[in-house]
Amino acid sequence: MEKKEIIIQTADYIKNKLSGESSGHDWWHAYSVWKNANYISQKEGGDLFTIELASLLHDISDWKFNNGNDLIGPKLAKEFLEKLSVEKNTISNVYNIIRDISFKGAKVDSKIKTIEGMIVQDADRLDAIGAIGIARTFAYGGATGREIYNPEIKPQIHETLEQYKNNKSPTINHFYEKLLLLKDLMNTKTAKEIAEQRHEFMLNFLDQFYKESKIK
Ligand code: NI
Repeated sequence: MEKKEIIIQTADYIKNKLSGESSGHDWWHAYSVWKNANYISQKEGGDLFTIELASLLHDISDWKFNNGNDLIGPKLAKEFLEKLSVEKNTISNVYNIIRDISFKGAKVDSKIKTIEGMIVQDADRLDAIGAIGIARTFAYGGATGREIYNPEIKPQIHETLEQYKNNKSPTINHFYEKLLLLKDLMNTKTAKEIAEQRHEFMLNFLDQFYKESKIK
């Protein structure tokens, strides 16, 4: 099967699988990660086929919804690509990217080392900030039973994945625990540039939020 056809089949598969998902990990998230990754790759290089597959499949099954098991997603992606007879090397690169991509706490180092992985991770992180990022964060907060805000609970910088996984802090705290940190964690120059404006937008959103809520 041609690469182009494999991408189309992968997109169809993910669209079916994630459509209607309501925690911010839906098809349209996969879609914008795919498009962002494509754009970054035009500027930064990397193997586009690997980048496209990994970005489409990256949220096939998220550890945050598998009791912390981060190997279910990559395994499903691997099985899917094997059915399409994708070459072994590409499958193993995609597997590693999906396993290592997600944010696991402010002080937990990312294991991503390849240019393809860096690009997909950046694309995913761009969709976690700015207007889309704000919308997704509140959707995720609702899906996981968090309060919108509660000034009596202060944000924490998580030192370990365990702390990050187990936290139930209000969604506004998530801005300080993750979203506002992402700008400086971007791997590529292209993503850093895009992140600047989205970061500013979030700061303005928080200002307005505090003004309206009378907290600060
Ligand atoms: Ni994602």
